Amino acid sequence: MHHFRYVQGRLQAENVDLESLAQRHGTPLYVYSKATVEDHFKRLDGAMNRLDHLVCYAVKANSNLAVLNTIANLGGGFDIVSGGELYRVLKAGGKAANCTFAGVGKTRAEIEYALKEGIYCFNAESEAEVRYINQVAGELGKKAPIALRVNPNVDAKTHAKITTGKSENKFGIDFESVLGAYEMIAKECPNLEIKGVQMHIGSQLTSVDPFLEAVQKVVPLVQEVKARFGLKFFSIGGGIGIVYRQSLDSGDTSWWQEQGEAAPLSVKAYADAVVPHLEQLGLRILLEPGRFMVGNAGVMLTRVLYEKRGSAKVFKIVDAGMNDLIRPTLYEGWHQIVPTTKPATDVTEKADVVGPICETGDYLAQDRDLAPVKAGDLLAVLSAGAYGFSMASNYNTRPLAAEVMVDGSKAHLVRERQTLDDILRGEHVLPDDKETA
Ligand code: LLP
Repeated sequence: MHHFRYVQGRLQAENVDLESLAQRHGTPLYVYSKATVEDHFKRLDGAMNRLDHLVCYAVKANSNLAVLNTIANLGGGFDIVSGGELYRVLKAGGKAANCTFAGVGKTRAEIEYALKEGIYCFNAESEAEVRYINQVAGELGKKAPIALRVNPNVDAKTHAKITTGKSENKFGIDFESVLGAYEMIAKECPNLEIKGVQMHIGSQLTSVDPFLEAVQKVVPLVQEVKARFGLKFFSIGGGIGIVYRQSLDSGDTSWWQEQGEAAPLSVKAYADAVVPHLEQLGLRILLEPGRFMVGNAGVMLTRVLYEKRGSAKVFKIVDAGMNDLIRPTLYEGWHQIVPTTKPATDVTEKADVVGPICETGDYLAQDRDLAPVKAGDLLAVLSAGAYGFSMASNYNTRPLAAEVMVDGSKAHLVRERQTLDDILRGEHVLPDDKETA
C-alpha cells in the first residue's frame, strides 16, 4: 500500500500535488508519505500480533527525524548501527530502551554513549567485540545487555552486495561457534548480561523460503541458549522485500499487486511462515524492517534538463545524480520512473535517464521504456524512500536534496536543501606562509 496516485492526470503524494512541491522547494526533492509509513508499520505490527514482539525499524533505511518520529509515535523501536543513529532516534522522540545496536565495528565512544543512554541491547558480531563491550562496561561500572548475531549460512537469494547471512560475509558469528561464544560470555565476561540472539540474512528478499530456512535452523539453537543461559528475546532481523514496479492509478492500491517481477512477499505470507516456529520459543520477538517500512513511502523528484540523441542511445539528462540516489548504479537497483503529468498515450521510447555527475555509472535507469518526456518535465523516481536520501553524498560538491513529508493535505519541509556553505563548513586552506613565518 502506498499513497502516490495520479489524480486528474497529476501525480500526488496523498492529497498534495508533486509539481507544486517541486516548484516550491526545487529539485532534486525527496517526498515522503506519512500515511504510507504508518500503514506499513501497522501492517507488520498487526501480522505479528500473536507474539510478544517489538518492531525495531532499521534507521539506516531512512533516518530523517520526521520518519523516526512517526515510527516512535506508533510505539516502534529502532535498530541502530552507529552513535549517530542513536543520537537521531533520541532527538526524534525515540527511547534508547527500545533500541538495538547492530554493526561489526562499534567504537569505544559509541559503546559508552549507548550504555549511558540505556540501550536495550548490543547485538555483537565477534568475540573480540564481545570482550571489548565487557571491558568498557566494567570501566563504567555498568552491566551491558548483549545478544550475539548468528550467521546461519543461508542463501538469501538477493543481490550479492546486500546478502549478509552467508559464511563468507563479514556479519555475525558462525552458526557452529555461537554456543561456544555464549559459554565464553557466561564464564569470562562478568560485565555482560546475556539477553538475546539475533540474525539478519539479507535485504530485499522476495520469497519467504530463505526466512523460513534461517528461522528453522536457528530456533533450536535459540532454545538451547535459552535453556542454558537465559534469554529475553530473539531478533529475526529485517529483509522483507518490496515491490519496485507498481500502478499509480487510483483503485489499484495494493503494493503487492505487482506485475512482471518476482512474486512479492506479503507480510501475511511472511508471518504465516515464521510465526508458528517463533511461538514455541516463549520469547519476545524483535523485527528489524527498514525497506519495508519506508521504501514505497518515498519518491525522488527530478527535473529533465536536456535531451541528447546519440548514435546509440537517447539520454534524458536530469538534475539528480548518483549522489542523490546510488541504488541503480551500486546494486543494479530498478526504480520505476514516471512523469508527474500522466502521459496521454501508452507510447514509450527507450532512453537512459542520467545525471550530471562525471561518471559513466551516473544513471537512474538504462534502456528504459519511458513515457515521452522533454526538457523541463518533472519525473518521479518511485520507491525511493529506503536507502535513497540516507545513502546520498556530496560527490561533485552537490548539495544534499531537500526532503518533504506529506501528511494528508499538508506538506512539511523536513530537511532543508543543503547550501554550498553547509558543505564547506569546517574546511580550511593552509595558512599563508608569510603570516606564519
Ligand atoms: N538489520 C540489520 C542488522 C541490517 O544490516 C539491515 C540492513 C536491516 C536490519 C534492514 O534491512 P531491510 O529490512 O531494509 O532489508 N543499501 C541497500 C540495503 C542495505 C541493507 C543493509 N542492512 C539497498 O539499497 O538495497
